[in-house]
Amino acid sequence: MKQTIRDLQPAGQTVFLRVDFNVPMHLGTVTDDSRVAAAVPTISELSRAGARVLCASHLGRPQGNRRQDLSLETVATVLGDHLGRKVLFVPESHGPQVEQFVAGMGDGDVALLENLRFDPGEEKNDPALARKLAAPASIYVNDAFGTAHRAHASTAAITRFLSPAVAGLLLQREVTALSRLLGHVDRPYIVVLGGAKISGKIDLMESLMEQADAILVGGAMSYTLLRAQGLETGQSLVEEDQIEMARHILERAEAQGVELVLPLDHLVAPAVESDTATTTDGAAIPADLMACDVGPRTVDLFSRWIREAATILWNGPMGIFENPRFAAGTRVIGAAIAASSSFSVVGGGDSVAAVRQFQMEDGFSHLSTGGGASLEFLAGRALPGLVALAEKDN
Ligand code: 3PG
Repeated sequence: MKQTIRDLQPAGQTVFLRVDFNVPMHLGTVTDDSRVAAAVPTISELSRAGARVLCASHLGRPQGNRRQDLSLETVATVLGDHLGRKVLFVPESHGPQVEQFVAGMGDGDVALLENLRFDPGEEKNDPALARKLAAPASIYVNDAFGTAHRAHASTAAITRFLSPAVAGLLLQREVTALSRLLGHVDRPYIVVLGGAKISGKIDLMESLMEQADAILVGGAMSYTLLRAQGLETGQSLVEEDQIEMARHILERAEAQGVELVLPLDHLVAPAVESDTATTTDGAAIPADLMACDVGPRTVDLFSRWIREAATILWNGPMGIFENPRFAAGTRVIGAAIAASSSFSVVGGGDSVAAVRQFQMEDGFSHLSTGGGASLEFLAGRALPGLVALAEKDN
């Protein structure tokens, strides 16, 4: 059975390659091209093998409308720079213009189609659209791990119309690395969680509690847990509607014997943009102040756990690291993980951005290109993009 591009002989064939080029943009410029870079091995290998490579992605959430600010045209140039060759941009994702374009492609050529989400059928997993997307190609490759948790026309329904349908090298690498955190793991296995919202991570916390030895929580997520413990959290970001759920998480951790390690102190300020920051004496936050980063005692405590760990998953920053005044917690905790000899995985847009900002990439065993996708995978959910490939008989 054909499972990855290594099982193909694609010379002279047209490949519909689903990638995740949903990259951050500012004023028409790509501000972080790591998702483009991550897709390069698959694109290069297909091109070298003589395939005609039609890359397709979404960008943002245009909700079925054509929006010039969400065109992938700029990304075609960025991809061309990475590949060291011209990448042609096709201003449609399907239809006669694409088919005409493909007819003129030579073996090894690489092109990028327009944003798939300009068509409302994409997010509806519409088979009619999937058939049109598939029409110019004879092989389907999915390398869009970041979008594998979406059942969309280009990630799910399309596999009905193209055979073989296989995984790209990035998708395979992500699944292999993240699978090391499911089932047997080297212990102690600790999870460092942060970021603003606990609401999106409840499922993950519950399933991680069944696997990890300790969960260290920093960032705004921890304020909701501290409030659930009855502590004062001042002006800090707290999800009031999640306090009950946070209580349940605390009880569950206790019942399961999992260490749920919360901050001992914080860096606090009157407002996010203020010039002054002080450290609290304990975990409580004064009524007129807001916590913006973990404090030094917390950094020491978390660093001790990190030094002892054999496996580490990190998702979410420890504070508002974009502001240098509140970056220390995220930077020092990130550096501690990078310095450890553990098997370490970082996932989630913000924490991966922090790892890059502080140039710590080399210290991590795996940087996931998936935010939501990596969380759902680690929570044990079936990802539609992976299921669609697994169900293929090729
Ligand atoms: C992501 O950035 O998480 C993926 O590209 C999926 O994007 P979406 O959340 O808009 O579906």
